[in-house]
Order: sequence, then C-alpha cells, then structure tokens
Amino acid sequence: MATNIHFHPGSSTPSERSQYLGQTGATIWLTGLSASGKSTIACALEQHLLHLAKFSYRLDGDNVRFGLNKDLGFDEKSRNENIRRIGEVAKLFTDSGCITLTAFISPYRADRNLARELHAQSSLPFVEVFVDAPLTVVEARDPKGLYKKARAGEIKEFTGISAPYEAPESPEIHIKTDEVDVAEAVRIIVDYIVAKGYITI
Ligand SMILES: Nc1ncnc2c1ncn2[C@@H]1O[C@H](COP(=O)(O)OP(=O)(O)OP(=O)(O)O)[C@@H](O)[C@H]1O
Ligand SMILES: [Mg+2]
Repeated sequence: MATNIHFHPGSSTPSERSQYLGQTGATIWLTGLSASGKSTIACALEQHLLHLAKFSYRLDGDNVRFGLNKDLGFDEKSRNENIRRIGEVAKLFTDSGCITLTAFISPYRADRNLARELHAQSSLPFVEVFVDAPLTVVEARDPKGLYKKARAGEIKEFTGISAPYEAPESPEIHIKTDEVDVAEAVRIIVDYIVAKGYITI
C-alpha cells in the first residue's frame, strides 16, 4: 500500500467533458458464460457506436489477460483481482467520457458489485448487461473448444462446468442470446443508452 500519495483533481469535470464531447461516459458491463456472446455483441456494438461517431472502446477478457492482467490465473482470488482491475480501468475510461464496453465472464456477484460500487462512488454510470444463454446452448456453440476441454478435465475451474457462475439478480439489461440475434442485442443496448441520455443519435 503506497503512502504519501495525494489525489490531484483536474480542472475539467466529467460534466464539462460531456458537454464538449457531446456524450456521457458509461460503462456497459457484459457478463455471462463463456460463449454466451459477450465479445460478439461488444464488437458489433463498438463498431456501431464508432459509425455513429461516438467515442467507445472495448475491454475484452482474453485481450486484457495478454497485457495488464498477464500475471493472473483463473483461481477465485485471481478472478477477483482480474475484475477489480478491469473495474478500475473501465471507470477511468468512463470518466474520460467513453462508452466503455467490458466483456468478461465476471462470474462472481460480489466482484461485479464491487465494479458497480467503484463507479457509484464517482457518480459514473454502470450498466450491467446479462448476456444469457443456457449451458446446453453455449456448450453446443463452443467456438473455442473450451467446454470440450473442460468436460475432459483438461481445464480446471471452468465457469459453468467446474466453477460457479452467479447470475445477476437485477441487471439493467437482460439479453437471451438463444432468442435474440446480435443485431437485435446491439439495438437493445443502444436504445437503453439513448434513453438514459448518454448518447444522442
Ligand atoms: N445471438 C447471439 N449473440 C451473440 N453470439 C451468438 C449469438 N448467436 C450465436 N452466437 C455465437 O456464439 C458465439 C459466442 O462467442 P463469444 O466469443 O462472443 O462468447 P463470449 O461470451 O465472449 O465467450 P468468452 O467468455 O469465452 O470470451 C459466437 O460463435 C457467436 O457467433
Ligand atoms: Mg469473449
């Protein structure tokens, strides 16, 4: 724990940034089982927002583990720390005025609530999106072959198979990807952020 550190406030506030950027930063936190569609939806949403000339950026599970979080594994403690760091980084992006999309399994309710709390402390919007599909469906999709490996015991602590997934109790948005296609999922999220006034289109 560092001592002798002092927070240096800036001269411009988030609301001033909103005024000049023409959008309000918000963290769109996608959570769900592996292969539920978090990355697929986040990529499509990021591109859609960019084409609307909105400042948006995606923080995605594996990608962050190649860099910032490359020292972390998949045991519960590491998963907690993974999400804590992502929560802090997402908060910084959102504070900058960005529509920040995060795509992490984030299986533990307490971790997601911590990320939510971090944002609340700074009065920054946090939108939890439950990207939901039954285990049978995601296991049949298995785009990375991970469920097959997990079933064969080649991957330890795999969410949904040998590690828990704690579904959100009251997410702001609930998308069932076995019923709704990617374009519709993007529309649902865009409609929400427009209704909240984070962007105008
Ligand atoms: N409605 C849908 N929304 C999103 N993805 C869908 C949908 N229907 C089918 N898919 C397919 O499901 C798969 C979802 O994979 P994706 O990598 O997006 O999952 P993920 O949630 O990011 O998983 P992981 O946690 O392993 O990164 C893709 O192959 C995608 O094409
Ligand atoms: Mg993904």
